[in-house]
Amino acid sequence: MLSVSALSASYGAIRALSGVALEVTERGMVAVLGANGAGKSTLMRSIAGLHRPVDGRILLDGRDIASMPLHRVVRAGLALVPEGRMVVAPLTVEENLRLSRYAGRGQEADLLARVYDLFPRLKERRRQVSGLMSGGEQQMLAIGRALMTAPRVLLLDEPSMGLAPAIVDQVFAAIVTLHRQGQSILLVEQNAEIALSVCEHAYVMKRGEIVAAGPAAQLHADAALLEAYLS
Ligand SMILES: Nc1ncnc2c1ncn2[C@@H]1O[C@H](COP(=O)(O)OP(=O)(O)O)[C@@H](O)[C@H]1O
Ligand SMILES: [Mg+2]
Repeated sequence: MLSVSALSASYGAIRALSGVALEVTERGMVAVLGANGAGKSTLMRSIAGLHRPVDGRILLDGRDIASMPLHRVVRAGLALVPEGRMVVAPLTVEENLRLSRYAGRGQEADLLARVYDLFPRLKERRRQVSGLMSGGEQQMLAIGRALMTAPRVLLLDEPSMGLAPAIVDQVFAAIVTLHRQGQSILLVEQNAEIALSVCEHAYVMKRGEIVAAGPAAQLHADAALLEAYLS
C-alpha cells in the first residue's frame, strides 16, 4: 500500500537519507527504529510531504506522491503525528480537531466520534485549551488530529517521547486498538522495546540508511544488533 524506494533527502550539504526503502502493507503496523540523528524524522517528513526528497519514489496505492504539494498528500491519505506533537496551543481540543478535518476527507461528526471513542479523555476535555494539557493528553490530541483526515496510513513520529511509562502504555494501547480496527500504521521510535512489542515488522536505521529489517520478533531476539544500532 505504501512503498518507499531509493529515497534520499538533504538539508543543504547534509545528507539525511540515502537510498531508503520500506513497505507498509494494507492494515499493517511497521516500525522504524534508530538512534537520535539516524534520519527517522526526515523520513517521516518526506513521506508526509513536509520535506522535499532529492531522489526516490513514494508510492501510495501505486501513485507517486513524492512531488505532490502537502494538501494533496493529505488528501491522498497520509497523515503525520509529528515529533513533539505540535498541537495549536491557544486553541481548545475540539478546535484543534475540527481545524485538521478541513485538510482531509470524511464526515466531521463521524471522525470526531471515532477520536472521542478512542480517547474518552479528549471528549472530557474538549473545551480545554490544548497548551495547558499534560504531555500525554497532547499526544492523544496530536493522534486525534491526524485521524480527523481519515488517513490511509497513519505516520507516528516518536509518540513515546518525553512521556512517563504509564502514559506511554496508555498511548500505545490506543495505537494497538487503531491497528486492530484496520488502520495501517508506520511508527518511528527510539524506544525499541515498546515498538517491537506492538509491530509486526521493523526496519533499523543508522546515519540515513536502513541497516537491518525483519519480523519484529526476530529483531527483538537479536540483542547484539539492537545494541549495535540503537545505542
Ligand atoms: N532542519 C535541519 N537542518 C539541518 N540538519 C538537520 C535538520 N533536521 C535534521 N537535520 C540533520 O539530519 C540528520 C537526521 O535528523 P533527523 O531526521 O531529525 O533524525 P532522527 O529523527 O532519527 O533523530 C541529523 O544529522 C540532523 O542533525
Ligand atoms: Mg526524530
